[in-house]
Amino acid sequence: MSQDKPTILIERRADAVAPAERERLLQDPGFGRIFTDHMATIRFHPERGWHDAKVVARSEFALNPSALVLHYAQEIFEGMKAYRLPDGGATLFRPDANARRFRSSAARMAMAELPEDLFIASVEALVRTDSDWIPSADGASLYLRPFMIATEVALGTKPSAEYLYAVIASPVGAYFKGGAAAVTIWVSDNYTRAAPGGTGAAKCGGNYAASLQAQAEGAREGCDQVVFLDAVERRWIEELGGMNVFFVFADGSLQTPPLTGTILPGITRDSLITLARDMGLTVREEPYSIDQWQADAKSGKLTESFACGTAAVVTPIGHVKGRKHAFTIGDGKPGAVTERLKAALQDIQRGRAEDKHGWLHKLG
Ligand code: PLP
Ligand code: COI
Repeated sequence: MSQDKPTILIERRADAVAPAERERLLQDPGFGRIFTDHMATIRFHPERGWHDAKVVARSEFALNPSALVLHYAQEIFEGMKAYRLPDGGATLFRPDANARRFRSSAARMAMAELPEDLFIASVEALVRTDSDWIPSADGASLYLRPFMIATEVALGTKPSAEYLYAVIASPVGAYFKGGAAAVTIWVSDNYTRAAPGGTGAAKCGGNYAASLQAQAEGAREGCDQVVFLDAVERRWIEELGGMNVFFVFADGSLQTPPLTGTILPGITRDSLITLARDMGLTVREEPYSIDQWQADAKSGKLTESFACGTAAVVTPIGHVKGRKHAFTIGDGKPGAVTERLKAALQDIQRGRAEDKHGWLHKLG
């Protein structure tokens, strides 16, 4: 990491959305439909290194049709949020963890690794420039999407020499329609998301492209998300299309699949493990099979399940469906442990509870 604070040029646009229109848009943002006035961009060239860091008007990219990303999908991204604090200030949540994961995703995809201080500085610069776009309603936040694409003009399969990194921002409410209500999950027993040695632990676009068919199948079956099983035995629960998963048992303990390289190491997952242990709860990072999930839900040994991620926050799972499975979790409604963990996480993120672990990165 460089010693000096990276310099990012700020060029504010003159034709920003008018305040009254912005306030109207912030009333009911949905998820990922509305975007702020600016974006941050940084370029990488092997001779110049990381250069041309700036915040500019959000606009289209000009891409050569031979840019490697368009052919071999060398692309990675991150998901994080800026929250409005009770004193009117704003904060990021564990941006250092996103910066680290972005670097490890880059390494897996043979891409240039953006220094972590530059990642954080670029996100900070965009949020400061577009700070009026951070919604203040409870449950709403400014979703930030840092991403990087391979821009070298070539058709041979090889790691690109050049990259474009960018951050865009989108005011968001709940990820799932209906807010806090429990979701229904589709068990994908035919499609897998990631195999040992593959890219499951990297946040690369290709993982999501490969999950869309299963997600569409689930949607046709009336489900909100897909749960993927391991690619080898088709038995062990891995994660959802865009979230990690937790199981809560009648004895008060929690379990979540271990990070064995095929699932995304979620920052929400990690935070919830810490918060649950702070509450004195036992958390196991151990494999759990789909058949056991069904048996335990039916016997009452398992009382709650939830999905978690930056976009989903903590979302209770009410029902699970598949070609060979059908069961309800508890009474199909949000459970008490799930709600307690969700509140504990959100209270820290929104500055209502003490930040014991130093997770907030306040922007003032
Ligand atoms: N798993 C997948 C596949 C995801 O897309 C996400 C979302 O980012 C997560 C898990 C949760 O990760 P995080 O809590 O860092 O947002
Ligand atoms: C996130 O939670 O940040 C993600 O990237 C997941 C995606 C489904 C929006």
